Amino acid sequence: MQLIYQSYSSVKFDTNQILSIVHNYSYDMYKETADWLLERTKIRPKVAIICGSGLGGLAEVLDDKTDFPYSDIPHFPTSTAPGHAGQLVFGRLEDHECVCMKGRFHFYEGYTCLSLQVTYPVRVFFLLGVKTLIVTNAAGALNGSYKVGDFMLIKDHINMPGFAGQNPLRGHNDERFGVRFPCMSDAYDPDLRALAKQTAKEQGLDSLLQQGVYGMQSGPAFETIAECEVLHRLGADAIGMSTAPEVVVARHCGLRVFAMSLITNILVRDYDSNEKANEEEVLESTALRTKDLQTFIRNFITKI
Ligand code: HPA
Repeated sequence: MQLIYQSYSSVKFDTNQILSIVHNYSYDMYKETADWLLERTKIRPKVAIICGSGLGGLAEVLDDKTDFPYSDIPHFPTSTAPGHAGQLVFGRLEDHECVCMKGRFHFYEGYTCLSLQVTYPVRVFFLLGVKTLIVTNAAGALNGSYKVGDFMLIKDHINMPGFAGQNPLRGHNDERFGVRFPCMSDAYDPDLRALAKQTAKEQGLDSLLQQGVYGMQSGPAFETIAECEVLHRLGADAIGMSTAPEVVVARHCGLRVFAMSLITNILVRDYDSNEKANEEEVLESTALRTKDLQTFIRNFITKI
């Protein structure tokens, strides 16, 4: 029996469509996306960059750019978050061929399941031949020694949605991507972090450089004071609404990962404070550091 579901917007889905949305994309769908892209660019990227909120300017570091709006790419989700442009940019950085996501997908945008749309591009990168994933994001600081404008090298994460059952690898495991139970204790590559420290030092950014644990919560609401307290006690140094799902999927398919947060605000920890987390502050703080981050990523990639 073929059940037809009618949504509020009167678009009709049949059971197969719903299953394909709720369960998994097939390997063939990822492959179709990768092949479509490979047919349209000569770039064969080994490095992929995911740009965080307001950090899409990172794509500017690439030369000989070809860009594809997400809406043109078969099976690709589209980006709805503020500060996220929605383009996949291929290009070169000296000898390095790269692909850059100008705009990422977040769980809070309403995608049905973390495993599907939010991490879709990561498996496409894998099929394009990418070996290293660089992730940037904006985050609020819990660690009392961090300042707005600092860069935090992510040495580990706490995936709060994962604790609540939203692990992106939940469901059928396709061994062509990776094993059923992938290791995550080595999620953030220590050699790449060492290279990042060296790069920051050469650029004179070492006074801004921190290293810490990123706590992911699903958003879109910012954290309550009690939630900040919980994540701080669990060991998080900063909180954001992204990154962990992409990193889990990248590690599952064997990509090396480097991730960095730009500290855009200090989280409110005191009930007497009049400070309030807000999107404007996040985007303003990001804009102030875009140039430094662009230079840093350019120098870093040339060293990989
Ligand atoms: N919380 C969650 N996500 C964020 C924050 C924050 O304070 N700042 C930037 N992204």
